[in-house]
Amino acid sequence: MRKKEIKLSPRLEKIYREIDFSISPFLDVGSDHGFLPIYLYKKGFQGKIYASEVIKGPYEKLVNSINEYELNGLIEPLFGDGLKVVGKREIKQVAICGMGGNTISSILKESKDILPSIEKFILEPQTDYYLLRMTLISLNFKIAKEVYIEESKHFYPIIIATHGQEEMNEIELIYGKYPLINKDPLLKKYLISQLKLIDDILSNREDEKLKSRKSTILKALDYF
Ligand SMILES: C[S@@+](CC[C@H](N)C(=O)[O-])C[C@H]1O[C@@H](n2cnc3c(N)ncnc32)[C@H](O)[C@@H]1O
Repeated sequence: MRKKEIKLSPRLEKIYREIDFSISPFLDVGSDHGFLPIYLYKKGFQGKIYASEVIKGPYEKLVNSINEYELNGLIEPLFGDGLKVVGKREIKQVAICGMGGNTISSILKESKDILPSIEKFILEPQTDYYLLRMTLISLNFKIAKEVYIEESKHFYPIIIATHGQEEMNEIELIYGKYPLINKDPLLKKYLISQLKLIDDILSNREDEKLKSRKSTILKALDYF
């Protein structure tokens, strides 16, 4: 029986809103349950939609979701690692969300040859944001937009990357240039929560690493 309408989590909803309906085909790498591509189709995305998974269990979940929503032939599931699934397919827009920034960095670096043909990336790392921003710069991407989201008391950036040159200072590499310049309220909330944690620890013991972290956070808060 066909499932009810999909309701995305606030995180996936915010990611969905960054997808450009004029750039197709679209690929969701690491789609898991496939909610993002299914929702995208239901919202009227006209182009071809692909969704990939590298692990058998989630891939089966993805295929089952596509079947349950009767979207066979409309969303194409692909089994494989990162952007290697693209092969000779023409993909113009890619989302890689809900995984570590180190994993996203590796996915990009391992498929350098196909990066020039992809116009837009929507990336939502859950760790290693600095590494991912550095990787993007080294691969000749610029960050066109970046905003934070909050989910279960964690703060994650959504990074929109397009081709181009980028310059960022150290603080911007750590926390994101646009969230700082645009005074993103969620980044401010995150910085203040981190500062409080560090101050609590420093009130009980000396810790040079934490003192240095505090000074980085204070430099970031200077943007606000
Ligand atoms: C936590 S889920 C996130 C699902 C969805 N993208 C989201 O944001 O809600 C991460 C998924 O990425 C998949 N994944 C991890 N590394 C991958 C890779 N190299 N290629 C494709 N999928 C990958 C995992 O199997 C897992 O299902």
